Amino acid sequence: MSRRVKTGIQGLDELINGGFPEGRVILVVGGPGTGKTVLAAQFLYKGITDYNESGIYVSLDESKNHYFSEMQTFGWDFKKAEEEKKFVFLDATRMPRSELQKEKIFGEPSSLRAKQLPIDRLIEDLEEKARQIDAKRVALDTLATLFHRFPDPVERRMIAVDLVESLSELGITTLITTELSRLGLDRDVSIEEYMAHGVIVMQTLFSEGVISRALQVEKMRGTKINPNCVPYTIDKNGIQIFPDVPLFGRS
Ligand SMILES: Nc1ncnc2c1ncn2[C@@H]1O[C@H](COP(=O)(O)OP(=O)(O)OP(=O)(O)O)[C@@H](O)[C@H]1O
Ligand SMILES: [Mg+2]
Repeated sequence: MSRRVKTGIQGLDELINGGFPEGRVILVVGGPGTGKTVLAAQFLYKGITDYNESGIYVSLDESKNHYFSEMQTFGWDFKKAEEEKKFVFLDATRMPRSELQKEKIFGEPSSLRAKQLPIDRLIEDLEEKARQIDAKRVALDTLATLFHRFPDPVERRMIAVDLVESLSELGITTLITTELSRLGLDRDVSIEEYMAHGVIVMQTLFSEGVISRALQVEKMRGTKINPNCVPYTIDKNGIQIFPDVPLFGRS
């Protein structure tokens, strides 16, 4: 069994036999406001403070200042971690936008190759930064933003395959957040879910007027998992998972 990387999220290690498999790519899937960004940030921050592992946050839709101040509400001082060279905020928010601008100005969509180039550059940047701070953890937030650029399902699949493959090759434990469009047994399983080594689904459930947050480990290759849907909370300390508490207070 591969070495386990402690997630830093209370209750999660228990569900996945001690932690994420080292060097693998894990997808965090969930609707808006389910806590994907918080989970990814907690994984990075606890890595730095509790396990002495540097981390990189690849942002596709949030500015650095906004991210730093939002995470400060949990007491996570990413600015300090950055100053100590244990953290890098990789701003990829302008990458997709600049390409979109070009499309607008020239009135024709750029070729698939031209669209893929920014992803190659992103991976190169990531590799360089990872070397500089000896990063052991990466979080990319969120794939959904990147997908908005690729309405064509074929292009989207190619981008997803390219990105997950490239990130796997880096050999750094990586979380990728993405949106969940449909729930239930008949939901579409996307190419990136097949490709990723692990998939964690976060949901907000409504039952008899009660709102509950529920998390499920859908898969984690090479790992004995607890596949139950279990409750979690988000408070001032971040995310906490309760593997032994039944959902909706019933057993
Ligand atoms: N300081 C805090 N204390 C308690 N709960 C908080 C705090 N900050 C945020 N939250 C909760 O966390 C949720 C947002 O989490 P997060 O931003 O990680 O969601 P997300 O899945 O990334 O959403 P999106 O898809 O919009 O990016 C909010 O719905 C809010 O309820
Ligand atoms: Mg988010």
